[in-house]
Amino acid sequence: MRMKAAIMFEQGRPRPYAESRPLVVEEVELDPPGPGEVLIEIAAAGLCHSDLSGIEGIRPRPVPIVIGHEGAGVVRELGEGVTDLKPGDHVVTVFVTSCGHCRYCVRGRPNICPSGFAARSAGTLVSGAKRIRRLNGEAVNHGSGLSLFAQYAVVSRRAAVKIDPDIPLEDAAIFGCAVMTGAGAVLNTAGLQAGDAVAVVGLGGVGMNALFAAVAGGAERIVAVDANPEKLGLARQWGATDTFLATEPDCAEQVRDATDGGLDTVIETAGTIKAMELAQAITARGGSTVSAGLPASDARFSYLHAQLVSDEKSILGSYMGSCVPERDIPRFLRMYKRGKLPVGRLRSGFLPLEEINAAFDRLAEGGVLRQILRPNG
Ligand SMILES: NC(=O)c1ccc[n+]([C@@H]2O[C@H](COP(=O)([O-])OP(=O)(O)OC[C@H]3O[C@@H](n4cnc5c(N)ncnc54)[C@H](O)[C@@H]3O)[C@@H](O)[C@H]2O)c1
Ligand SMILES: [Zn+2]
Ligand SMILES: [Zn+2]
Repeated sequence: MRMKAAIMFEQGRPRPYAESRPLVVEEVELDPPGPGEVLIEIAAAGLCHSDLSGIEGIRPRPVPIVIGHEGAGVVRELGEGVTDLKPGDHVVTVFVTSCGHCRYCVRGRPNICPSGFAARSAGTLVSGAKRIRRLNGEAVNHGSGLSLFAQYAVVSRRAAVKIDPDIPLEDAAIFGCAVMTGAGAVLNTAGLQAGDAVAVVGLGGVGMNALFAAVAGGAERIVAVDANPEKLGLARQWGATDTFLATEPDCAEQVRDATDGGLDTVIETAGTIKAMELAQAITARGGSTVSAGLPASDARFSYLHAQLVSDEKSILGSYMGSCVPERDIPRFLRMYKRGKLPVGRLRSGFLPLEEINAAFDRLAEGGVLRQILRPNG
């Protein structure tokens, strides 16, 4: 079928993107779903900082590619062998397609399944297929096994989680990345318990979901840190007990002074080495730094080895919030229905495909939380 998609032909174009146009909206051909795949009409797709990192070129992607890895839509067609979904079902997409039987999947860690990572590097779906072609016949790569900055997507059945049809799809979309990543970092990776004290460093779409989850999980003290004062104001409204400006040279000292030596759990959701260093510095002795931010692929974080040992600090990576999507998307949606994950507050407006470059300028400027693409109007 014919559809419109935003194709990235080259990484690293300069800002402003509204002028350099790293994403080009084109008519393309989308092949029908193969065995074990489904065709989804994309209702809503969120713009995540990981997409921006791809555009900036600090995280390599195979080009030409259609990126976009956070979304929700309606199933329109089933590939051979898919019997547990039907046309009309509403789904949230999952940006790591898991195999279900490798050593990681069987331990309940499908978020680090190698098959999903291999497909991502190859620019394919997990089946190995590429389903998008330019009108000149050139194959286009898939981003995260999904390619959601388009009107439709063919994805693996395993990359879609069915949801209740009464959930607005523009809210559901955010569960595909920001909620799983932010709430999952707090509730899964860190294993927050009621009464814990927690800090969140980096208050974007991901970090704000970490904040919501900390509030919902009964954290007694919630320290919010960002480089942007406006985000600190929002964090206070939404349940942070203390806020600190990351750009203050003595920020770490201020947090340590206010918290009797730091926090037991610190969630890093900014994606820079500076933020990671700050997160580590405000982690108390014996505490854990949980890092969900994704800096440049070759960026290295260093620490004083002896201090790591003598302070007994832990550093934990958190990919897709250590989520089992079939378990956690419905769980987080139940919390949302009870008002505990109010993702609607994060929506910084809707946009059509044609405005996607300008929207990435706004994300790079740091003033927005989640902008929602509606590729079908
Ligand atoms: N681990 C995962 O599975 C996963 C999934 C999605 C996104 N990510 C990554 O998470 C990060 C956040 O994504 P997002 O979409 O919320 O981004 P965003 O741009 O909406 O938010 C980032 C926030 O960090 C703040 N920040 C920047 N430097 C800082 C510093 N030194 N100290 C404190 N705050 C600082 C910014 O002001 C901004 O508010 C990105 O690196 C993204 O690539 C990881
Ligand atoms: Zn993301
Ligand atoms: Zn697996």
